[in-house]
Amino acid sequence: MIRFEHVSKRYADGTTAVDGLSFEVNAGELVTLVGPSGCGKTTTMKMVNRLIEPTEGRIFLDGDDISAIDPVQLRRRIGYVIQQVGLFPHKTVLDNTATVPHLLGVRRAEARARAAELLDLVGLDPKVFGERYPEQLSGGQRQRVGVARALAADPPVLLMDEPFGAVDPVVRDHLQTEFLRLQRTLGKTVLFVTHDIEEAVRLGDRIAVYGQGRIEQFDTPSAVLGAPATDYVADFVGADRGLKRLSVTPIEEGDLEQPPVVHLDDPLPRELDARWAVVLDQEDNLHGWISAEHARDAAKKGATVRDHARRMEAWLPVGASLKQAFATMLQHDAGWIAVIDADSEGRFLGVLTPARLHEALRRSTAADARDVARADVALEIIR
Ligand SMILES: Nc1ncnc2c1ncn2[C@@H]1O[C@H](COP(=O)(O)OP(=O)(O)O)[C@@H](O)[C@H]1O
Ligand SMILES: [Mg+2]
Repeated sequence: MIRFEHVSKRYADGTTAVDGLSFEVNAGELVTLVGPSGCGKTTTMKMVNRLIEPTEGRIFLDGDDISAIDPVQLRRRIGYVIQQVGLFPHKTVLDNTATVPHLLGVRRAEARARAAELLDLVGLDPKVFGERYPEQLSGGQRQRVGVARALAADPPVLLMDEPFGAVDPVVRDHLQTEFLRLQRTLGKTVLFVTHDIEEAVRLGDRIAVYGQGRIEQFDTPSAVLGAPATDYVADFVGADRGLKRLSVTPIEEGDLEQPPVVHLDDPLPRELDARWAVVLDQEDNLHGWISAEHARDAAKKGATVRDHARRMEAWLPVGASLKQAFATMLQHDAGWIAVIDADSEGRFLGVLTPARLHEALRRSTAADARDVARADVALEIIR
């Protein structure tokens, strides 16, 4: 969708901001460009919408060489979000959002109706915020308007240059979560600049780690964290890259252990094959757990699992990150957590134990996983 071929940019004073860059962003992909200040991220970005012209090389958008496209036409295909949003101070939030479609010839009423939808989409109730002026918004709310405005002309491509850089960490976390949710439904092709490695690995389908004007590594977050290509990348992602990898590695069904299972209306079992069993309801949804010791002591005629089951607090949907899994274990002081289907009412899939978590983390980099056999990390908890 966006392709760079040997692109360089030298400024008049001799600074080489970008040096022989070649890479491609696929349609619907979110690529983060990450690197220290001054490494050429903004220059890369501005060459895509021709705010800056390259000195050498060519850039293609959907197969078209952009140097042959009229810049104004080009920018209609590309939404642009920057840190200092640049909202018109004398226009309401709704009119700010409706500006571009209106300029493109959409009738004002229609443009405003679409703007209201977009504000809703980015988490701003148009009835509450639509008639406010930019100065009446918080920094985070202004950034949301910036995103809504960039989406207003429904461009296939979004360029985002440190869009969440100026807001506090809690707001940034919200904006990131919402942007990911939004991107899942919109499926735009996104080039997202940040100097924050945490943000880069959280948002990016792939990340490009910049050195001075060059890409040092271009790969998935787990590959970059798991196997940095150079010492520079290893240094940039940090010594805690193993921990960061927890947050970009999802729990998969294959990571789960299958413990003994009983149902709520079963008679209380006198014996279990393990120290505990998971308790499910009639629909095989997670209810809780029961300990073998307790079951043995309490077993008498007529007693059912229902009378003695305990609720399970430590659970997550499949696809949640290993970091969430680890945090959930710590929070509940649990030796294992239950994992349920993400799309159903809570159908039980299996349990994740610390050993399986460790194994999943090693699985997440092919290089590491090759020599781990399941048997090596066989677990004690169940047996
Ligand atoms: N108009 C300009 N003239 C000269 N040098 C520039 C200009 N714009 C940016 N640079 C230089 O190009 C390099 C890359 O800048 P930039 O792309 O803004 O980096 P980043 O966005 O990664 O912080 C820096 O050394 C910067 O000082
Ligand atoms: Mg910049």
